[in-house]
Amino acid sequence: MAVSWGTLFADRTERMHASDIRELLKLTARPEIISLAGGLPAPELFPIDEYRRAFEWVLETNGNMALQYGPSEGYRPLREFLARRMTGMGIPAEPDHVLVTSGSQQGLDLLGKIFLNPGDAVCAESPTYMGAIQAFDAYQADYVTVPMDDEGMRSQDLDDILQQHAIKFIYALPNFQNPSGRLMSEPRRELLIETARRHGVPIVEDDPYGELYFEGGPLPSLRSLWPEGVIYLGTFSKILAPGFRLGWLVAPPGLYDEFVFAKQPADLHTSMATQMATNEVCQQDDFLETHIDQIRDVYRERRNVMLRAMEEHFPPGCSWTRARGGLFVWAELPPSIDTRELLAEALAEQVAFVPGESFHPDRGGHNTMRLNFSNVTPERIEEGIARLGRAIKRRLAHVEATAERDQSVPVSP
Ligand SMILES: Cc1ncc(COP(=O)(O)O)c(C=O)c1O
Repeated sequence: MAVSWGTLFADRTERMHASDIRELLKLTARPEIISLAGGLPAPELFPIDEYRRAFEWVLETNGNMALQYGPSEGYRPLREFLARRMTGMGIPAEPDHVLVTSGSQQGLDLLGKIFLNPGDAVCAESPTYMGAIQAFDAYQADYVTVPMDDEGMRSQDLDDILQQHAIKFIYALPNFQNPSGRLMSEPRRELLIETARRHGVPIVEDDPYGELYFEGGPLPSLRSLWPEGVIYLGTFSKILAPGFRLGWLVAPPGLYDEFVFAKQPADLHTSMATQMATNEVCQQDDFLETHIDQIRDVYRERRNVMLRAMEEHFPPGCSWTRARGGLFVWAELPPSIDTRELLAEALAEQVAFVPGESFHPDRGGHNTMRLNFSNVTPERIEEGIARLGRAIKRRLAHVEATAERDQSVPVSP
């Protein structure tokens, strides 16, 4: 008898499915399409030579350890390096409370595994990171969202939310948020912490982009403002390379072991060879700081080109964020435009973006879009934005013509 797979799936799989947008965006792999849709770093900046040397050295000098099973907590020298570096940046961290993860995406999954029963509520910014929604969806989470503006999460709205809802944790991206590129202002950070602390609700600070600032310097991390209540997620994906799947988290002492227990059944530990080679790369004099400086320079230029091109090619009625760091610009179009419909039009112009709806757990944001500048050369950004501007203008003309036609239809008595 044939197995009827679908009838055997656990309830939690109900919300695990391909998104139609992701399917559509598969088209963007075609070279003639200028994709502003991805969230990928610039591959030409990957430290390939440094890794080649580091892997060689690790295999020559400590191959037995590199290829053996290792501790779930992570490779101790790397945990020590991370704790030292974070402490130097004002993010409190002890090596004993650093857990190396297989990408910070694993940190999100572990959070769901530890905290979320079906129907439990997570408080998230609106919009928020799509991969976090996917991770928490797998644990059948509910969402309560906090609106954002140019200063990031509107922390002033949080008190009411925390009074009205039982929230397991607040998921926040204070630095150059994915998708909006926004930076949470210092007063908003302080108010967020003050409110969460008063209600006894923990915060998850997801911070892949904090070091990629293009102007000014870093603002105080949420963890520095409340070390006992903030779980910090970090990653090498945007400062070295995402392909190794190497991230980390810092958990308050009473929680750390729980993360280790949650990680063990998932993958026992993160690749030892990768951790050792990365530790080697990070030990090279000033390499990491110089490398991150170079990433900032390249991305800053691309961001500038994108903003300039948007000024030139986007029609009146559109607004967008300035992305003072990170990988993304977030645009809001006139309300008559549905960016999912616009995407089809844009693909015909051979340019792609991600419609904003994908970043809203409540499916809002129909007239918003995320644009990536890190993975596209300045020339292609310029051309891509010109194409997108044409698609938006055509779509606007279409919806205006449709509205006029509808108005001119005689109303029957
Ligand atoms: C906000 C945010 N969190 C987590 C991740 C996952 O990163 P990784 O698993 O590569 O560390 C990403 C990736 O783009 C992200 O934007």
